[in-house]
Amino acid sequence: MGLKNFITHIAAAFCLLASSLFQQAVAEDGYELWLRYEKLEQVPKSAPRSVVAACSDLSPTLDAALSEILRASASILGTPLKQGDRISRHALVLTSEACGATLPNGTLPNADEVGTEGYVLQSTLINGKPVTLIAAQSDIGVLYGVFDYLRRMSSGEAIADLDVISRPKTQLRLLNHWDNLDRHVERGYSGQSIWDWHRLPGYVDPRYTDYARANASIGINGTSLTNVNSDATVLTPHYLEKVAAIADVLRPYGIKVYLTARFSAPIELDGLATADPLDPAVQTWWQAKTDEIYDYVPDFGGFLVKANSEGQPGPQDYGRSHAEGANMLAKAVAPHGGVVMWRAFVYSAEEPEDRVRQAYTEFVPLDGQFAENVLVQVKNGPLDFQPREPFHPLFGAMPETPLMIELQITKEYLGFSTHLAYLGTLWEEVLAADTKTKGDGTTVASVVDGETYDYAYTGMAGVSNIGTDRNWAGSIFDQANWYAFGRLAWNPDASAEDIAREWVKQTFSRKPEVVDEITDMMMKSREAVVDYMTPLGLTHLMGTGHHYGPAPWVDDLGRADWTPYYYHKATRGGIGFDRTETGSDAVDQYAGPVAQEWASLETVPDSLLLWFHHVPWDYEMQDGSTLWQSLVAHYARGITTVAEMQSEWASLKGEIDSERFNQVTDYLNIQHEEAQWWRDASIAYWQSINQLPLPAGEAPPPHDLDYYKSLSFPNAPGQGE
Ligand code: GCU
Repeated sequence: MGLKNFITHIAAAFCLLASSLFQQAVAEDGYELWLRYEKLEQVPKSAPRSVVAACSDLSPTLDAALSEILRASASILGTPLKQGDRISRHALVLTSEACGATLPNGTLPNADEVGTEGYVLQSTLINGKPVTLIAAQSDIGVLYGVFDYLRRMSSGEAIADLDVISRPKTQLRLLNHWDNLDRHVERGYSGQSIWDWHRLPGYVDPRYTDYARANASIGINGTSLTNVNSDATVLTPHYLEKVAAIADVLRPYGIKVYLTARFSAPIELDGLATADPLDPAVQTWWQAKTDEIYDYVPDFGGFLVKANSEGQPGPQDYGRSHAEGANMLAKAVAPHGGVVMWRAFVYSAEEPEDRVRQAYTEFVPLDGQFAENVLVQVKNGPLDFQPREPFHPLFGAMPETPLMIELQITKEYLGFSTHLAYLGTLWEEVLAADTKTKGDGTTVASVVDGETYDYAYTGMAGVSNIGTDRNWAGSIFDQANWYAFGRLAWNPDASAEDIAREWVKQTFSRKPEVVDEITDMMMKSREAVVDYMTPLGLTHLMGTGHHYGPAPWVDDLGRADWTPYYYHKATRGGIGFDRTETGSDAVDQYAGPVAQEWASLETVPDSLLLWFHHVPWDYEMQDGSTLWQSLVAHYARGITTVAEMQSEWASLKGEIDSERFNQVTDYLNIQHEEAQWWRDASIAYWQSINQLPLPAGEAPPPHDLDYYKSLSFPNAPGQGE
């Protein structure tokens, strides 16, 4: 080979190498979540030069904070910060009361300002040197501060002249995994459970550390590892050893572990004759079991319990109340500082009362009877995580009982992982809803964060969407829902749009036009789902069991309140569930002014019309159209919005790495097809009932109703047992 040829060969090989490196650099599978720490185009003058922990004692939490800074700075700034042991100019200074701060007096924020988990970010002078101070009472406060600082940096925000104080408005910010011990995730659409029980504790997946980092970065401080439809086996020593191994990984990140307690565990595990909460042997059993758990996990958070709901055992099996059941467990965890989260998701198959009324009927009389360390955990709406529901009437109705809100991050009823539905707007809607239970402005958020009734405990729980998929959540956009949950749990008054923007900047791009486009897609996405699935207050029309796709025709399951017919009550004469005085009167469970507004056809918003009222098909809507016309128009609007999202996304080609770009493109195609399917199947069914022609210009469904009814999905993911 001549010299010229040799050089050409070398050059070609170099190009190949460079291009494959480039491809590796740009290909992204979503694993990094919002912690991608993309390199800044230009390093700002205010960028720190070194990091120092001004502490006499470095805890694992501060170690985690330091290593996060080194990892992030290497990526965002191009070189990792120097880790110093002296404060120099332009240093990032980490410190806390707990770490034995070695700073001049008066530098630390006091407890009134930041509480036990808050922090300050401050551009200031220490010993005459300009520095950025990240300081707190506790080390976990410092870690949260570090994540806030890194969020600003990787979003391209100014990091000069900082003067930030932040503290969470709720105390317990938990993920609830609905993960079974065989790794099946109930209502999970992102692979298997990340809890690899069989290989634990011998093998502790490094992924748990990334899980902890991601959660800490958004302020989540607890995780309930197991399904609410619980298996007592997790309470055996064999499993507690595994639980302890997970807890050890999560601890430095401020995340406590909780478990679901199966009420019949004393019978199932140790052969007791009863699980009656007032039986002394049962009480002793739970006390011993709880003490044992604390031997394995000294900072165990407590129990989450689903009892006497959908076939789960509970105190009512022995004629005892929910309060008596909860208090027995509360007594067992109390000496260790634990809590019990008792779910209010109860309704009975035999009960003739409207399902959405039952939790209120059952729990309001128990207000004041729960032990101090019990929180009652209430879903956002009175039914079951539907695309839209009114807020749950329990919010504001139990002044003496701390109520947590439970949100569903996983999209059981909003298109699984393939439909883009940003839930920040759904949650903002419910948190901002005015219960008016203590006058105007008694928002759900102000009940949940304890402001209204001064609850001793406050909290928010999110049913997790995390699984073994590389991208964790099943889709990139579903990562935003995990993110938004954490941010809202920290501040239930935060804006869904602000949260979307900060997520987009960290996840996709800092370019303003890209941020605007993607934020716009996200902000309208949930309403699109409402439009093509369950518009105008319709609800629970999904396929039986798996909840995939439309099945409004189903009317003959084992229990009426699991059928779509129960919720829409469509006849030739009209459609909707009368929940006014002439019907179930569920509206009466809301405070006077809210009840009045929703009970009256004059004032009920269109969005809740068929939730509260049964009206004729030719009922005149606020815009003058008939109900039937309006319904059909909503389906069309939903599909159009998805089409808009498709073209907005297509316009971003080249702005997003191809792996993530292509997956989102494919998912949006699926969503579009399924939106059309929802519309067609629903219309075919409604027409079979109302016998009405389609409004002019509306295309008839391409198939007859029998076709839509014949579709079956035996292996749809996420089903319960
Ligand atoms: C829904 C869901 C169940 C779950 C239940 C609950 O009904 O479909 O899988 O167990 O909620 O919240 O307990």
